[in-house]
Amino acid sequence: MSSKTQLNWSRKVVVYQIYPRSFKDSNNDGIGDLQGIIDKLDYLNDGTEKSLGIDAIWLSPIYKSPMIDFGYDISDYLDIDPVFGDLEIFDRFIKEAHKRNIKVIMDFVANHTSDKHIWFKESRSSRHNSKRDWYIWKDPKPDGSPPNNWLSVFGGSSWALDKRTNQYYLHSFLPEQPDLNWRNIEVKTAMEKVLEFWIHKGVDGFRSDASYHLIKDDQFRDDPGNPNYKGPKNSYKRFLHIYSQGRPEALDTINTFCSILGLHKDKYIVSEAYLDIPEMTKLYKACSNGLHAPFNFNLISLPWDAQIVKSHIDNFEASLNKNDWPNYVLGNHDRQRVVSRVGKKRAKLLAMLLFTLRGMPFVYYGEEIGMENVGLSSDKQKDLVGNRLTANRDGERTPMQWDESAHAGFSIVKPWLPVGEKYKDVNVKKELNDPISMLRLYRHLIHYRTHNHVLLHGSYRSLGFGNRNVFAFLRELGDEKILVILNFSKDEESVSLPYQKAKVVCTTNREKEGETINIKKIILFAYQGYVMEVIE
Ligand code: NOJ
Repeated sequence: MSSKTQLNWSRKVVVYQIYPRSFKDSNNDGIGDLQGIIDKLDYLNDGTEKSLGIDAIWLSPIYKSPMIDFGYDISDYLDIDPVFGDLEIFDRFIKEAHKRNIKVIMDFVANHTSDKHIWFKESRSSRHNSKRDWYIWKDPKPDGSPPNNWLSVFGGSSWALDKRTNQYYLHSFLPEQPDLNWRNIEVKTAMEKVLEFWIHKGVDGFRSDASYHLIKDDQFRDDPGNPNYKGPKNSYKRFLHIYSQGRPEALDTINTFCSILGLHKDKYIVSEAYLDIPEMTKLYKACSNGLHAPFNFNLISLPWDAQIVKSHIDNFEASLNKNDWPNYVLGNHDRQRVVSRVGKKRAKLLAMLLFTLRGMPFVYYGEEIGMENVGLSSDKQKDLVGNRLTANRDGERTPMQWDESAHAGFSIVKPWLPVGEKYKDVNVKKELNDPISMLRLYRHLIHYRTHNHVLLHGSYRSLGFGNRNVFAFLRELGDEKILVILNFSKDEESVSLPYQKAKVVCTTNREKEGETINIKKIILFAYQGYVMEVIE
């Protein structure tokens, strides 16, 4: 297959996630906005090897919102929140992105609206309102307590009592995020119109929020206790959430999204759900047209062990059908930044893995320069969820670090969250000039991948050999072979390979690139990785 083969764009892209509040502030209010993103598009891809080279952007929500969950609580699906801009600027953004061959993926928050959405305002106004059934309402138990034991992902019961009508409504997340009732056909129709609206505006795909929550048990059965759980008494994990989420009917809802997308040319949707391989397999089956994939978040949580990572990828690959397109994620706006999680050297190794595996790599803004989580005292915290649970997500959402000027070049005024302490060293401007920086490694790997048909279209096969600290695999297309070797150990390791010679494309410490080396036996430094074109 040549690299010119016509495939859905999702088969070729590296996706860059932008958290719009934190990317670039253009109007000096301390909050990032759409114009700011437009101003920085050339950094992402100006068509030359000087830019990062990504070819799709996923925008976290920019819809109208009271911002209780920073946009994941939508009060109008068909408008842009003024903090980010307006529909006209959005049109310009799409035009400018497409001019640079960058696809645009919008966040699609279908499980819940904001409690300030007109649909919910109507729904809660009376038991007889025509939109009552658009949300999930239930009577209290005889003692006044919630209808069942379902828990909110963000802490406490997922039921909130609305005193006006003396019924509980369901919120799988914050009480300000009431769940829509996807069993109601009018909800389905209204949300289909939302997808159509943005498709007509020119968006290329969607990231479906909280996909596994979309449908709940129609008998509202209690979730059973988790027999293996040993942690704190109030944790979400103390139950097995088999009735409050992950219902088989959720797959039908995802299929609805795919059908809408299938009516248009070249669209794609990725579902947010933190799943193991058997559950991901079910989600892949939700759509038969290959336009959908669940996120694979497992690289975020797997232990640091070459063999565990190898067997995860082997098993994941083996689970996929011909039409299924894999993806991998190292971080996002809900998870600790990768450098904070594993350290800089290991983060470089993971970047090499991310860009050389088969499928779609997702990059969270700032990971390409190695941004770290920022610790915030409780009086500075903005994430309300963090006040309810232990995990506060502000730390991974701080302003993009562009340069060493005040506020890291993100804004000329004090940003909504503080910039990272190390921004004078960890920033785009500085790293562009540093040949061994994280940014230059990302850029090199991304450009190589984008122009290499073996990495884009070739198969995956892991190699087994004596050293359990090293994970090595081949990407193959016809006679061409790309070999990736990753040393997960803090010590020097050596491996013997069934090949003689290779040309070095990339190493994590940026040595030997372009050289032809003997690879019968190869010595790797601590956390060193190689990408090589096998010669013989
Ligand atoms: C998942 C999103 O990634 C997260 O940020 C949000 O708080 C919840 N879904 C609720 O929408």
